[in-house]
Amino acid sequence: MSFEEMWAELLPVGRDAVTGGYHRFAWTPPELECRAWFADEARRRGLDLEHDPNGNMIAWWYPEDGSRTGAVLTGSHLDSVPGGGAFDGPLGIVSAFAAVDLLRERGVRPARPIGIGAFAEEEGARFGVACLGSRLLAGAIDPARARGLTDAGGHTFAEVVHNAGLDPHAIGPDEDLLGRIACYVELHVEQGRSLEQPVGVASAIVPHGRWRFDFAGEGNHAGTTGLPDRRDPMLPFAHMVIAAREAAERNGTVATVGKVRVEPNGVNAIPSAVTAWLDARGPADDAVRRTVLEVDEAARVAARPHRVSVDLAEESYTEIVDFNLALRDRVGAALGGVPVLPTGAGHDAGVLSARLPTAMLFVRNPTGVSHAPEEFAEPADRLAGVEALAAVLDDLARG
Ligand code: GLV
Ligand code: MN
Ligand code: MN
Ligand code: MN
Repeated sequence: MSFEEMWAELLPVGRDAVTGGYHRFAWTPPELECRAWFADEARRRGLDLEHDPNGNMIAWWYPEDGSRTGAVLTGSHLDSVPGGGAFDGPLGIVSAFAAVDLLRERGVRPARPIGIGAFAEEEGARFGVACLGSRLLAGAIDPARARGLTDAGGHTFAEVVHNAGLDPHAIGPDEDLLGRIACYVELHVEQGRSLEQPVGVASAIVPHGRWRFDFAGEGNHAGTTGLPDRRDPMLPFAHMVIAAREAAERNGTVATVGKVRVEPNGVNAIPSAVTAWLDARGPADDAVRRTVLEVDEAARVAARPHRVSVDLAEESYTEIVDFNLALRDRVGAALGGVPVLPTGAGHDAGVLSARLPTAMLFVRNPTGVSHAPEEFAEPADRLAGVEALAAVLDDLARG
C-alpha cells in the first residue's frame, strides 16, 4: 500500500458530499471506520496492535531482540472538527505507516520499538476537551471529570467508551505505557501561513484554552413581550462576541467564538439561555488570561441592564509548550536543517510533552487554511514529509 493508496482509502470516510468537510467525531461510525482502517493497516504489516485503557491505539514494530522499552512513538489522530479538512490528524498517521514501509524497503532494522499511535478525541469535538486521549494517558485530566463529560446528545464519555469495549473505571494515567516510550514525534499538516519549505520542525505551541459562557435570561413570546419586559440573553452574548475581538486586538492574542447553543432556538421565541464557547490563544499566558477576563467583564456589564446572569467556566487550558530542545535539535540534524516555527494549534505532542520528550514535524499547507475543507498538502510535500519522518525514526530508533 503506497501513501497515495492509503490516502485514497481514507478520503471518503466521513466526508460531507456537499461541503467536502469531514465529520469524524470520536467513536461515531466514520471515526470507527477510520479505526478499523488503522487496525487493517497494522495487520497488513504484521504490526502488534495495542489498545490502551484510554481509547488510544498503537501499532508496534518491535525490534528483532524483542525489546519492548525505549520506544520511539510517532502518529497523530483520526478524529476531526465539524467540517474539518482531510489532513489534520490523518496525515501524521498515513505518513507514519508509509515511513515504516520505507524503512523496511531500505532494510532498516530498528534497535528500538517504533510505534504508530492514533490518539482519541484530539479535537475535543465530541466531549469538549481537546486531546482527551493523550490527556488521560498523561494524567493531565481527572478521570472522574472525563467520565462525566457529555456529548451533544447527552451521552457521557463513560457510556460511550463502555459501548466501545473499554472499562470506564480503568481510564487514566498509564505509567506502564508511558514507561515504555522514550520519545514521541508527531508529523502534522501546518495550519497557518508560516511554512514556506516542504517540511519544518515545531519550536513551541502557544498557550491556549477553551471557556464556556452561560447566559441565562427568560424565554418568552417574540410578539407579545415588550422591550422593557424582556430578559434576552442574546444581547449580552452579542456584546461578548465583539468584546472578544476587541480584547484580542488589545492583548495581541486571538479569540474566537465558534460554537453557540441557543435555547429553545425558535425564530419567534426570546431565548431563555445562550451558551457560547470562547477559544483564546496567544504568545504569553498573561495575555491570554487578560483576554478572557476582559471578555468576561464586558459580558457582565452588557448583561446587567437586561437582567441576564452570566456564568464563566474554564473547560481546558494548556500552558506554553516549548518542545524538548535536545530532541528538536536531533530531529533538525536528521533533516539537515529545516525551518523551526511555533504554532497556535494544540496537539497530542503538546500534552505528552509534560511526560516525555516530544517533537513535531510540519508539512507545508499552501492554502494556509485548516479546520476547513481547503486544508491541503501537495503530493510532493506529503512524500517529503514521509522521507523526513523516516529519517527521524531511523535516527532515533538506532539507540
Ligand atoms: C486543535 O487542533 C486545536 O488546536 O484546536
Ligand atoms: Mn485540529
Ligand atoms: Mn491535529
Ligand atoms: Mn489539534
